[in-house]
Amino acid sequence: MRKESFEFKYEVFESSDDLPEKDRALIENARKVTEIAYAPYSEFKVGAVALLNTGQLVSGTNQENASYPVGLCAERALLATASTLHTNIPIDTMAIAYHNLNGESATPASPCGMCRQYISEYEERTKQPIRLLLSGMQGRVFVLEKAGQLLPLSFGSADLNG
Ligand code: THU
Repeated sequence: MRKESFEFKYEVFESSDDLPEKDRALIENARKVTEIAYAPYSEFKVGAVALLNTGQLVSGTNQENASYPVGLCAERALLATASTLHTNIPIDTMAIAYHNLNGESATPASPCGMCRQYISEYEERTKQPIRLLLSGMQGRVFVLEKAGQLLPLSFGSADLNG
């Protein structure tokens, strides 16, 4: 028997003001698109904006539904759009922000489990890690160098192929 462990480090900034201009702009963009999220049930509006290797931007917002489980997270809305409009173009950085209409929006939230799985496969198929910038509408920002680190021992296409 042996033990294995998993560790990853991420950066914590007290404010988006402390980040380089390019990252700050992406975070501002994600905060802005929270406005167009369709989240009438949770009133938890999520905005995501990705910077592709080509310099193009793609955004996504959460899309809820009266049949609750039908709802889609902002991250997967973004990735499905990127995959359709910019097929196979790797994503350099994705900023994710949220605006909780019923509470604070000052502490970063990180992607749900289903989105971690989706993001992880996106990294795998485009062969490039995706940097993540996580924040609310103000306050601290977390910077992760590789989104897949959020899903250790993940299931992937290699598992299907034996
Ligand atoms: N949501 C996202 O869009 N992304 C996440 O990573 C976490 C949760 C959405 C789903 C739902 O519309 C609302 O936030 C509350 O869970």
